[in-house]
Amino acid sequence: MSAASEDPDARILGRLRAAKAPVSGEELAELLGCSRAAVWKRIAALREQGYEIEARHAAGYVLAGTPDRLGPAELAPHLRGGWRNVHWLARVDSTQRVARDLARSGAAEGTAVVAEEQTAGRGRLGRTWHSPPGDNLYCSIVLRPPRAPAEVPQIALVAGLAVADAVQETAGRRPAIKWPNDVLLDGKKVCGILTEMESEMDRVHHVIAGIGVNLNTRRFPRELREKASSLLLLTGRPVERAPFTARLLAALEARYGRYLSVGFASVRTEWESYSCLTGTEVRVQGPGGEVVGRVLGLDDDGALRLRGADGRVTRIVAGEVTLRGGRGV
Ligand code: BTN
Repeated sequence: MSAASEDPDARILGRLRAAKAPVSGEELAELLGCSRAAVWKRIAALREQGYEIEARHAAGYVLAGTPDRLGPAELAPHLRGGWRNVHWLARVDSTQRVARDLARSGAAEGTAVVAEEQTAGRGRLGRTWHSPPGDNLYCSIVLRPPRAPAEVPQIALVAGLAVADAVQETAGRRPAIKWPNDVLLDGKKVCGILTEMESEMDRVHHVIAGIGVNLNTRRFPRELREKASSLLLLTGRPVERAPFTARLLAALEARYGRYLSVGFASVRTEWESYSCLTGTEVRVQGPGGEVVGRVLGLDDDGALRLRGADGRVTRIVAGEVTLRGGRGV
């Protein structure tokens, strides 16, 4: 979270959040090294942003409510791991584009871009990603894996596992993962991940892990209703987005760190335990045409292994999987 600790608003909010009793204007003025009038102006500006700050007569200020936003001041108190450089945007075409530009200009691993709304959110296979304002999480994270480009699809699986962790912790229910990394709850897609890379033949410059999680959407466009849903619709409870975002970043940092130090073996078994496809008959539409078969599991590099009717085993490295008979997402 760039410079959040120097930001006066974040300092006021941090002090009010930590306080068990009202905090006087005098104390806040001392904290910021400014006048009480200047504190009062900042409090007024914070109220404009949606913070409920009560002024108790002869006692001081009390924080009574926080807006549901993912800005630095809202996110900072929840961040737990080492990834704290989060760029927040109210509205953007796609967080993927911003994260890619940051990566090209040298942004460190773990740098994240979060937006309240995307006007051109992108999905896998050239699709769009429904990104209405204020309800969900749209996040892109810069990674710099010291790995060959051919191993990068494994990172897409690592990201899926991290989202599954965060969804489970939040919803209190075990989600499923549909290869490569759709996260489903009650058979409906609640998260999509788009992994993009810039590399040379044998060296990765950066990977952008783009994660969209449907948290509080109440109504989806007609064409998505059958397949997609949100945690709110499926659990009946709204999700507080800032703690969820922090949970997800911490889960990804931990899973990805373990993947780099231990290898894909640290991911494979757990990923398979979440998989809703193992043992099912599927149809895969891939770059080389359509393949039909029963899912055996993951290969060492993250490819999906299928056994066809003729007994031959095929490896799928990219494509769109549907359950045969069209059931599922
Ligand atoms: C999918 O098709 O399942 C992948 C969807 C990925 C959506 C996320 S939202 C944040 C990031 N920005 C984008 O434009 N796309 C990804």
